[in-house]
Amino acid sequence: MAHLIAPSLLTADFGRLYEVIELINKSEADWFHIDVMDGVFVPNISFGFPVIESIKKLAEKPLDVHLMIVDPDKYIDTFKKAGADILTVHYEACTHLHSTLQKIKSAGMKAGVSLNPHTPVHLLEEIITEADMILIMSVNPGFGAQKFIEHSYEKIKKLKKMIFSTKSDTLIEVDGGVGINNAKNLIKAGVDVLVAGNSILSSENPIETIHKLKTLS
Ligand code: DX5
Ligand code: ZN
Repeated sequence: MAHLIAPSLLTADFGRLYEVIELINKSEADWFHIDVMDGVFVPNISFGFPVIESIKKLAEKPLDVHLMIVDPDKYIDTFKKAGADILTVHYEACTHLHSTLQKIKSAGMKAGVSLNPHTPVHLLEEIITEADMILIMSVNPGFGAQKFIEHSYEKIKKLKKMIFSTKSDTLIEVDGGVGINNAKNLIKAGVDVLVAGNSILSSENPIETIHKLKTLS
């Protein structure tokens, strides 16, 4: 499968959100990556349902919603109504992860599981075949524009082996500090979806940066 690009809106100027959405619509990006933070699971608060609903009205591509919140089960149906197509929860925030993934899928969305940098990949062994996507956090969640954690490569390679040996078709997404400097190596290690916020939105020509990430030129 050709890899996908999911620009993160977190570092966008929210006063100009319309322009940023139009830019991503026009670009070769595949998904919109939407970071939801509750100020409890992570030390930051981003945005909630009204903002996601407005993005959904304008976005011409699927919404890849990354929940950095405690107790995500409470809001699964509301995220579906707001427009989420892929809903990713954190392993560390779910006591009954199997049940949470089933609920997300029965609500009509793809179900993802995210791992914080300290959480080992082997903890996914019993759940990997139930997840449509695993998101490897390559920074500590909460903020955009942080430095990529190099150890993430090892986790991606281990995860790729696990996916291969269980014959599952789970996608691997990587999120945090991704840019043209490391995109090629991440794809080589086994990544299917690159999330990139700061490296796209703070570049001189975001459309061209997305093109470069897509073609790895
Ligand atoms: C961090 C978020 C990321 C963030 C990535 O908690 O999950 O999606 O926006 O931003 P960059 O690409 O700027 O590191
Ligand atoms: Zn994210």
